[in-house]
Amino acid sequence: MSRKIRGVKGTRDVLPIDTYVKDEDPWLRIGHYQLIERSARELFPLYGYREARTPVLERTELFVRGIGQETDIVGKEMYTFDDKGDLVTMRPEGTASMVRAYLEHNVNLTEPETKWWYLGPMFRRERQQRGRYRQFTQIGVEALGSPGPRIDAEQIELLDRWLRLLGIPFEMHLNTMGDQNCRPRYREALQTYLRSRIDDLCDDCKKRVETNPIRVLDCKNPKCQEVAAGAPKMEQFLCDACRAHFAGVRESLDKLGVKYAVDPKLVRGLDYYTRTTYEAIATGGLGAQSTVAGGGRYDGLVKELGGPDVPGIGFAAGVERMALLLAQQGKEEAARPVVFFAPLGPAEEARADVLAQELRAAGLAAEVSFRRANPGNQLKRADALGARFALVLGESELQSDRAKLKELKTGMQHEVALSDLVPAVQKLLGEKR
Ligand code: HAM
Repeated sequence: MSRKIRGVKGTRDVLPIDTYVKDEDPWLRIGHYQLIERSARELFPLYGYREARTPVLERTELFVRGIGQETDIVGKEMYTFDDKGDLVTMRPEGTASMVRAYLEHNVNLTEPETKWWYLGPMFRRERQQRGRYRQFTQIGVEALGSPGPRIDAEQIELLDRWLRLLGIPFEMHLNTMGDQNCRPRYREALQTYLRSRIDDLCDDCKKRVETNPIRVLDCKNPKCQEVAAGAPKMEQFLCDACRAHFAGVRESLDKLGVKYAVDPKLVRGLDYYTRTTYEAIATGGLGAQSTVAGGGRYDGLVKELGGPDVPGIGFAAGVERMALLLAQQGKEEAARPVVFFAPLGPAEEARADVLAQELRAAGLAAEVSFRRANPGNQLKRADALGARFALVLGESELQSDRAKLKELKTGMQHEVALSDLVPAVQKLLGEKR
């Protein structure tokens, strides 16, 4: 026998059944993803976001320039290959791609403000652990063209509403990173401080002091956290414009009734951020990878990618992390048959096929068993599929035109006429509602 071929490490299958991956999270089913995706599709347009789709493959340069050479993502996590002379990368995130598409199609020339949302797989070569994969799914939004703080608050309120609609327990964290005027002075002060504490830092952070000192602030290593606790704070270095923007965001959030905690350690892992940054952090159920969604303002990115001076702000949520939380609460979308037919012979099979067709034409899910099995086993299968009713069809039912719809949850039997099945099922469903 030939050897079975396994999926690639850090990727997972999402099926309508439980899949268990070693050292990893069991029980993620497609229904958990569908619930999250449907709620985004319904909610985001209410805030004016329209869906946009861009390719998985982009030129490597887009991410190097967009996300930043010194970030972990660009430095060590990208899936990059030489496509016969072109260096291409499987996107590690969506923001740079959205901005590329925005510029490539000159959207800035026709729309003063643009709001897009997106959904799709992202790729980062990370160490696999609970809630962290090499292929994962993000749902994100990007708003381009609005410099003021009210859009920041509107977007944070959208994320807050979405997570609350899904019943995900979280806390919203908020910070400001300053801009090109005030951040360099902060970076310098931070670097001077970190150099004085260099021996107390982990090996990665020793390097970060010179390349990306702000990232030391969110290192998970306890020694680094202790050093970070005594570091100078961005707050003390903010220029007047950034200070006013942050005050404006907080004021608007208060007006919209959104609860949040100001968190000076929230610095984000991508270099494009300016001013507002925010994260929704799960308050349980995820372990170390507890950030469900993160985002912020990126006022310099459009220019960095060759466009005009257009500001932007967005967030992306990790669908797998959200799905894990929904799985723990037993919430998912499930495609269940309303009626499961178990025909006992060839004539009954032919009738069942047509009855199922009639139900489907009326918008009711119906499934016909294609195997010969005794009624007991057929009922077990109907139960496993989560069917509402099972209908065993034998010779006598066919002849008398009378059959029993068995309600699987209660065991109750409802006698119906086969020639009148659709209205009978509709009536039963109506009564239960
Ligand atoms: P990010 O913080 O790198 O931001 O990712 C956003 C979310 O994606 C994370 O909070 C997490 O839930 C999920 N995520 C990231 N990496 C993984 C992984 N390896 N496995 C599973 N889930 C993961 C961005 O990507 C920015 N583009 C967000 C943004 C949009 N900023 C402005 N606009």
